Amino acid sequence: MPTAADSQPDPPSPSPAPDADFAATLIRTRQHVGPKRLHPPGPDSARIDAYFQAAAAAPDHGQILPWRFVVIPDARRGALGEAFAAALRERDPQAAQSDLDEARGKALRAPFLALAIVREGGDGHPEIPPHERLVSLGCAIQNILLQSHADGFAAGLVSGKALESRAIRALFALTPNERAVCFLAIGTALQRKPARQRPAPERFVSRL
Ligand SMILES: Cc1cc2nc3c(=O)[nH]c(=O)nc-3n(C[C@H](O)[C@H](O)[C@H](O)COP(=O)(O)O)c2cc1C
Repeated sequence: MPTAADSQPDPPSPSPAPDADFAATLIRTRQHVGPKRLHPPGPDSARIDAYFQAAAAAPDHGQILPWRFVVIPDARRGALGEAFAAALRERDPQAAQSDLDEARGKALRAPFLALAIVREGGDGHPEIPPHERLVSLGCAIQNILLQSHADGFAAGLVSGKALESRAIRALFALTPNERAVCFLAIGTALQRKPARQRPAPERFVSRL
């Protein structure tokens, strides 16, 4: 005799992607490599395009695209270096020449360099608060980090006081509603540090 249960459709079950293990490995083996340790070759224009396509796949509440990236090509590294030096002078008008030169030198590191910028408001979308916009940018950055890691490149993020300077804000034409969050650097690592110990989930997961 058929029962009511027999006539029920099978419950849906997740169907893992065939490369789910690869995705897990990719995520777990990504690590920060600072710009000083990022050497040529860097990604070519086709791969850079792929990285920004990956960024475009980030979650974006309201689809307001609350972030942008500005690539700093080789020809503009000098201008970035001058902005770093000017940023240092804003903080310390008596900065030594050697410190100014060191600040300039930071602009020359890593074959690929871009600035990640978040728009915190002022665009007619008060329903999307700054923290949600920043999460979206973080996801976009992570997508780029993972996609470039899959290609065998190394990458790192760099922030610092210069990002709040008038010099950097002017160079990147930031509007009053925009904030420079970090530089994203990509290149080839000659050697990597041992993977860092990741926090155990029980340190950051609880149950209600
Ligand atoms: C927004 C942001 C800014 C960062 N800025 C710097 C930085 O200025 N200098 C630095 O050494 N690392 C910076 N990092 C990278 C972290 O130091 C790095 O992610 C952390 O040490 C964990 O290492 P892992 O990425 O290899 O897991 C930044 C990371 C984020 C998310």
